[in-house]
Amino acid sequence: MVNKNISKDNKQSSAMWGGRFDSKPSKIMENINASISFDKRLYKEDILTSIAHTKMLGKQKILSKEETSKIINGLNQIQKEIESNKFTFSSELEDIHMNIEDRLKNIIGEPAGKLHTARSRNDQVATDLRLWTRNAIKTIDHCLKALQKELIDLAEKNYSTIMPGFTHLQIAQPVTFGHYLLAYVEMFGRDRSRYFDCSNRLNENPLGSAALAGTAFPIDRTFTTKELNFSSTSSNSIDSVSDRDFVIEFLSVSSITSIHLSRMAEEIVIWSTDQFNFIKLSDQYTTGSSIMPQKRNPDAAELARGKSGRIIGSLVAIMTVLKGLPLAYSKDLQEDKEGIFDAFDHLYLSLNACIGMISDLEVNRTAMLSSACLGYSTATDLADWLVMELNIPFREAHSHSGKAVKYAEKNKCSLKDIPIEAFREIDNRINNKVYSFLSIESSVNSKNSYGGTSPKEVKKQIKNARKRFLS
Ligand code: ARG
Repeated sequence: MVNKNISKDNKQSSAMWGGRFDSKPSKIMENINASISFDKRLYKEDILTSIAHTKMLGKQKILSKEETSKIINGLNQIQKEIESNKFTFSSELEDIHMNIEDRLKNIIGEPAGKLHTARSRNDQVATDLRLWTRNAIKTIDHCLKALQKELIDLAEKNYSTIMPGFTHLQIAQPVTFGHYLLAYVEMFGRDRSRYFDCSNRLNENPLGSAALAGTAFPIDRTFTTKELNFSSTSSNSIDSVSDRDFVIEFLSVSSITSIHLSRMAEEIVIWSTDQFNFIKLSDQYTTGSSIMPQKRNPDAAELARGKSGRIIGSLVAIMTVLKGLPLAYSKDLQEDKEGIFDAFDHLYLSLNACIGMISDLEVNRTAMLSSACLGYSTATDLADWLVMELNIPFREAHSHSGKAVKYAEKNKCSLKDIPIEAFREIDNRINNKVYSFLSIESSVNSKNSYGGTSPKEVKKQIKNARKRFLS
């Protein structure tokens, strides 16, 4: 239903673009169009972009020296006003670009109108958002590195701590906790390299592409590229104003990172249950229940797991916005910001929550070890021993070991408690040496292959990981 009370009474059209209009937009038009409530977050990048553009116009003599310095001083003043909360944002002025330009006019008068020479909000917003994303990646990389450090430090303390390793969430083979933690270090390492690629690819300067066609003014795009620390200047003005691949890429990489956090968080949730009791989270990262006094809930981990939903949601949203969008700029592109901001904010929170949880969790080594002893977790070691010691083909050894598990299950004992006679019935070549291969410790110690779980190997991997990721 259309609200009949709005708009008709507004006679004055927009000062920025209203030359051909007789009246103002309706309130609904203003509401759907305005982005200031969220793009004010780009104020710093917008001012940086405008200053670089102004310097370039001055250098090219498109602006006089006096106009150039007046504009730059005005922009610097606006930055101070925003940072000291003295700036009034207005949704009538739509977005951050027009809010700043309007204020500039109040402060310095007419030369403000010349700031927008040889540019458009289309190349301006594309530049601002690239700069913002470049910084966001730096921040996320910093957090990922800090998380890797916590994981490596914890791995170091637990390079020989034995726990069960799982496949299908069934006890598979004993592993070391340090080894387990280093698996996450690898994942976050891949995330960092994906962010690095994304940052390199987005580091192109679209400023000077103007609305879509470029400009007739004698601008120097290389100058603003250097000024804004971009590594190159974009080559096609139509692409420059319509491209949001970098938003998709940032959100893809962030989605993958959030999936990794979610997987780790899920393990933290499982491990801190009474049933597992492998770890205890500190009071700082747990909450109580308002009804069940005994509870210690791993809410931070649950939220790190849950937040992957909204981050992946933002990725789907921007891909859907861009799908089928004709070149070059359409206002649909304004929908790029809230998703990327939201994904960044929640990823940042999740990362910091995980850093906190990992840094002060308690490890219950006794529970880990006794759990590793369950589930006949050395059955593969038995099969390996049959191959190595008796030269039995692995398939046959596997079947022998299966028979031993069957015996142990039936007699409710562990593999190392099977009497030698029972082993001999499976294969009469089996001798007493077998027992030294059935302990959890010897199982773990024997996995010395590169990247394997033995404490010796894990120590090496910890050293490597420090070099690869933290130096
Ligand atoms: N607020 C707009 C955005 O975020 C800025 C670009 C507007 N350009 C235009 N031609 N209306 O996309």
